[in-house]
Amino acid sequence: MREQMMEQFTKLFHTSHDIRSFFAPGRVNLIGEHTDYNGGHVFPCALTFGTYALAALRNDQTIQMYSMNFPEVGVISISLDKPLSYEKEHDWTNYPKGVLKEFIDKGVEISQGFDVLFYGNIPNGAGLSSSASIELATAVILQALYETSFSRVDLVKMSQHAENEFIGVSCGIMDQFAIGMGKENHAILLDCQSLNYQYSPIVLKDASLVIANTNKRRTLADSKYNERRSECERALRDLQKELQIQSLGELTPEQFESHRHLIQNKIDQKRAKHAVYENARTLEAVEKLKEGDLASFGQLMCDSHTSLRDDYEVTGFELDTLVEAAMKQEGVLGSRMTGAGFGGCTVSIVKNDNLEAFIEEVGKSYHEKTGLKAEFYVANVGDGAKELS
Ligand code: GLA
Repeated sequence: MREQMMEQFTKLFHTSHDIRSFFAPGRVNLIGEHTDYNGGHVFPCALTFGTYALAALRNDQTIQMYSMNFPEVGVISISLDKPLSYEKEHDWTNYPKGVLKEFIDKGVEISQGFDVLFYGNIPNGAGLSSSASIELATAVILQALYETSFSRVDLVKMSQHAENEFIGVSCGIMDQFAIGMGKENHAILLDCQSLNYQYSPIVLKDASLVIANTNKRRTLADSKYNERRSECERALRDLQKELQIQSLGELTPEQFESHRHLIQNKIDQKRAKHAVYENARTLEAVEKLKEGDLASFGQLMCDSHTSLRDDYEVTGFELDTLVEAAMKQEGVLGSRMTGAGFGGCTVSIVKNDNLEAFIEEVGKSYHEKTGLKAEFYVANVGDGAKELS
């Protein structure tokens, strides 16, 4: 692919500057869903598919951007003399623009423009964070081209801030963190309140991670996501009448049970219950993985899905059907939805001997029940965003 990208780049941009190449992965979350903005723990990892980019400085004040995934959008050109703002007709380039604005707002002097070409192989709209991937790709490009010295965690925070403020999606920090900080064959246990983290090797012995895409359009995902955030915030405010806590992530399930009556609204109670129990499950799951107890890890994945289905209510027919079909198969240790929900993907741990039958049977059963065709990827866990040599 690099050759095709290079060919396209030179055709579009005729540069005489050094062309440098970069990569930022997609991510999959193993457990700890809808806990990040509740100050809890998450356990995601970076994938080996992601966003590739070629970039070169220019001598003038222009920035030119092109994506091989959206040829119909063509080259988008912007000028550095004008303030950067979100523009609908700028389509996908609003993501790199948002990150660029973060650099400028932090006082980085950008006096020369650049040309950039992207190509991504993350399935689009599948909830594997193609947007955070392009944000972090941009962040590492800008760091390299303008020789800035932001820490990796700064780049992660700037990317999340761009998504929150420039794009207007109020996501937590999980996706950008996993993509910025990912490490080959490791998942990251991240405390989203303190941003303390530790890497945990993913040793699955004779099994693999399988991602299954529902291929369901994620309608209403953003509005439902914001609704869940407000429900949790309301529950927290009710609890704070008696408890000195900053976030739901500080509560153990026992503390929650003895104070849940403080939460006025029954629905808010269920949402908070998920956030608290999911956080505890995540910490337990990481311990089980360390001990090599994959059966218990898998069971906790299933419990996570049940809680997301019944208490958090972010799964839906397609995700539930995929998980149910998966759990009927031989050699499946665990399965759950991953990401925001309302469509998108599931992640399962499947014994290698059963992989082929899994893909065939789950795909068939899913198609019969939903009329949709699922796609399956055996996932490899890769590194975070970086310049390629
Ligand atoms: C989306 C958001 C993340 C996180 C997950 C749910 O992926 O971008 O910040 O909240 O949903 O766990």
